Amino acid sequence: MKIGIIGSGSIGSTIGKLWSDAGHEVLFSSRNPEKLSGLIERVGGTVKSGTVEEAVAFADVLFLAINYWTLDDALANMGDVSRKVILDATNPYEYNSAGKVVRSIPTDISGGELLQQKLPHSKVIKVFSSMMATVMNERHHRKPLLVMPYTTNFTDEKQRVESLVSDAGFLPMYYGDLTKSKPIELFGKYSDKILNEQEAVESFKIDFEGK
Ligand SMILES: NC(=O)c1ccc[n+]([C@@H]2O[C@H](COP(=O)([O-])OP(=O)(O)OC[C@H]3O[C@@H](n4cnc5c(N)ncnc54)[C@H](OP(=O)(O)O)[C@@H]3O)[C@@H](O)[C@H]2O)c1
Repeated sequence: MKIGIIGSGSIGSTIGKLWSDAGHEVLFSSRNPEKLSGLIERVGGTVKSGTVEEAVAFADVLFLAINYWTLDDALANMGDVSRKVILDATNPYEYNSAGKVVRSIPTDISGGELLQQKLPHSKVIKVFSSMMATVMNERHHRKPLLVMPYTTNFTDEKQRVESLVSDAGFLPMYYGDLTKSKPIELFGKYSDKILNEQEAVESFKIDFEGK
């Protein structure tokens, strides 16, 4: 698959490398692509670098991994992403003037839902938001596989998302539509929770059936 990484920082570079290692065509983007030469060398293979616009033109699937406070600017840089599948790893938080992490959107909406509202003609998948990049870097492909929950309104994209999560070395598990995204975003119930398949099935059952 052709994958464009928007935001090639901690999480973008981690997941982009895992997809490249799995044989996908990956383009890492930056507002200053020349900064990415070290990453390109480290990842090796067929990986490319480019601008945000080049990543959008190249890719079938975009991986959004920018700091939330730059979201609107990043979306403007991306331009027309109608009909693209967007895997959204972002968390709706920023730093306040005291350096404390604070929520940057209202509490009655998730980052996943808000992104889908901003991009009504794209297919938003909330995934890879709930676990630290360092943990993903250490634990990918290790048995028992760690569960990577995801949410989307587009059930027709489940197969594609699940193969991408599997190729990165995790066990995909559908958690529901985008209204269910808060638990898998930062500070949600599954934020930094390391679960194997059985633990996730049991926990999801309690969430949805109360047992
Ligand atoms: N780090 C983690 O463990 C982790 C885990 C799960 C989810 N997340 C979420 O993923 C997101 C990114 O986190 P991170 O830790 O990877 O951040 P990071 O290391 O600071 O990387 C963010 C990247 O976003 C790019 N960027 C910033 N503004 C942009 C804009 N206007 N247009 C295009 N690109 C822009 C920057 O690239 P250039 O300056 O090169 O353009 C930068 O490399 C956050 O929302 C975070 O909550 C992080």
